Amino acid sequence: MKKILVCLDTDPQPSVFDGIVAIDAGVDHLFRHAGVEPADVRDLVHGALFTRGGSDLRNTAIFIGGSDVQAGELLMAATEEAFFGPIRVSVMHDSNGSNTTAAAAVVAARRHLPFGPETIAAVLGTGPVGQRVARMLAQEGVEVRFASRRMARAEAQCHHIAQAVEGARLTPYATEGAGVSRLLDGAQLVVAAGAAGIELVDEDSQRAACSLRVAIDLNAVPPVGLAGIQPQENAAVYNEQVRYGALGIGSLKMKIHNKAIARLFETNDAVLDADAIYSLGKKITATGCL
Ligand SMILES: NC(=O)c1ccc[n+]([C@@H]2O[C@H](COP(=O)([O-])OP(=O)(O)OC[C@H]3O[C@@H](n4cnc5c(N)ncnc54)[C@H](OP(=O)(O)O)[C@@H]3O)[C@@H](O)[C@H]2O)c1
Repeated sequence: MKKILVCLDTDPQPSVFDGIVAIDAGVDHLFRHAGVEPADVRDLVHGALFTRGGSDLRNTAIFIGGSDVQAGELLMAATEEAFFGPIRVSVMHDSNGSNTTAAAAVVAARRHLPFGPETIAAVLGTGPVGQRVARMLAQEGVEVRFASRRMARAEAQCHHIAQAVEGARLTPYATEGAGVSRLLDGAQLVVAAGAAGIELVDEDSQRAACSLRVAIDLNAVPPVGLAGIQPQENAAVYNEQVRYGALGIGSLKMKIHNKAIARLFETNDAVLDADAIYSLGKKITATGCL
């Protein structure tokens, strides 16, 4: 039976990237819906449930994408509400690649740093990817300094994560007008999740932060987010710091994304949210695929 992925995207145009990755991961047909709102979800999901019955249901799955991770969370909740009992299909949420990219970055950092209350991480950029990096680190018990240009946005995002992660230790930071030295002071890990082509930390600030052990930049478009890190760096050691560039992280991100799509079609009840995708990333690393 053909594998069908129903893509529910919150943006006006469905993501081309997500479509190509799905086909490369073995999906036969994509049904792509754009501009999807929570009120649209029930009927779209029922269309996926009532066509194939019994064990054939595992050949249909739902993928939630788009550039707004919180709008994606609402579609995810509406999707789960539309299922009843065993009449359901597998579902994955990865708005802007947020869960798969963040899982790859946090799994990479975990190879070099003990995660626990003694670890301090600075995360820059409160877009979809930054939100998920901060959430996964907070879930691991790491103390997270979450930085935006504007304090109000940093505070709002910290509040949102604290609602999802019990005991999360998050401090909002504003970088506009204040720079990054206070943010980096005493941190062992920095993850730059800024927009493409925006430098967030210059080389001098990075060098001055002598507590840093791991530096991860997710922006591949020049200028990169952490000046001096080449996009292809993959656990490169420089001045006693382990460094990853966007392409170095990207190869693990693609492995996680591909495995997650394949997982959707193994049963009809997989729920691949931030936590499940992070667990998948840890499993892939444990089996030595990094
Ligand atoms: N390596 C990979 O495999 C991979 C996969 C997916 C995405 N990415 C990359 O990961 C990064 C984050 O993705 P995303 O979707 O979360 O990005 P995004 O939403 O485009 O931007 C992230 C954040 O960057 C900050 N920002 C935007 N414009 C800025 C400016 N002019 N100056 C300073 N900061 C600015 C904003 O944070 P504040 O408003 O809080 O300041 C924004 O929320 C991007 O560079 C993306 O290309 C990499």
